[in-house]
Amino acid sequence: MPGVRPYYAPGSLSAAFYDVVTAADGQLSGDVELYAGLAAPGASVLELGVGSGRVAVALAMRGLSVTGVDIARPMLAQAQARRDMLEPQAAARVELRQGDMTALDLKRSFDLVIAPYFVLAHLPTGAAWRNAFKSAARHLKPGGLAAFHLPLLSLMRRASPPDPEAVVLNEALDGGGRLRLYVRERRFREDVGRLEQVIDYEEVDARGAAARRSSERLAYYMADPEPLAAEAGLRLDRPAIPLGGVGEVWVFRKA
Ligand SMILES: C[S@@+](CC[C@H](N)C(=O)[O-])C[C@H]1O[C@@H](n2cnc3c(N)ncnc32)[C@H](O)[C@@H]1O
Repeated sequence: MPGVRPYYAPGSLSAAFYDVVTAADGQLSGDVELYAGLAAPGASVLELGVGSGRVAVALAMRGLSVTGVDIARPMLAQAQARRDMLEPQAAARVELRQGDMTALDLKRSFDLVIAPYFVLAHLPTGAAWRNAFKSAARHLKPGGLAAFHLPLLSLMRRASPPDPEAVVLNEALDGGGRLRLYVRERRFREDVGRLEQVIDYEEVDARGAAARRSSERLAYYMADPEPLAAEAGLRLDRPAIPLGGVGEVWVFRKA
């Protein structure tokens, strides 16, 4: 569709306002503690799809050493800025790299691999998931854990057509402006296991005038992750852990 950007693309408002939207999202509450609880003190962590560094920096502040990889430069730039605000010892525990989680080879292994906030769901199930699980397994020490936060298929299936005039988020911005979000399109495609959404972002300045607008496409894919993880040598370690009512964290162990 002309004029619709992919999520997190250069110039996108989804990248520019990622932290504003995520901070308002109660569905992620407790996720940092969950991932920290999977790691021994001082452990090494690889975050696939590190985004703005929300989780990576919080884990580094807890004493973990985190390497964060993301495909999107606008997101990595925010992660770098967040890391630079840490005190030097903690900042030294965060390494950031541009990379594709479906074809990653850092030539080192970690105690824990994490993919928080639906990172894997951004990729089509099938070959992309298979390769992402292989990347995770390739970077894990024997016995190490890999945690993937995935959406609930049952909820995705219940997606109903949105009211494009309804404001779904209305957040105050520094400087007196506001960010408003609208869902213009939403449908679930059973044939490809994909929730398709177009989100309209509107930034309004302190006088109420529209400063920036952008329509952005966000797709989430979901399928049973167990068979593809098993192909990569990752076995389900425990029942999926519910998070925020819309997703679950699937924890696998490398044999
Ligand atoms: C919803 S954000 C999650 C960011 C972070 N993990 C968090 O919890 O806040 C999803 C991230 O996955 C990244 N991503 C999508 N596909 C990717 C790929 N193939 N390889 C690496 N990162 C990818 C996006 O650029 C985006 O930053």
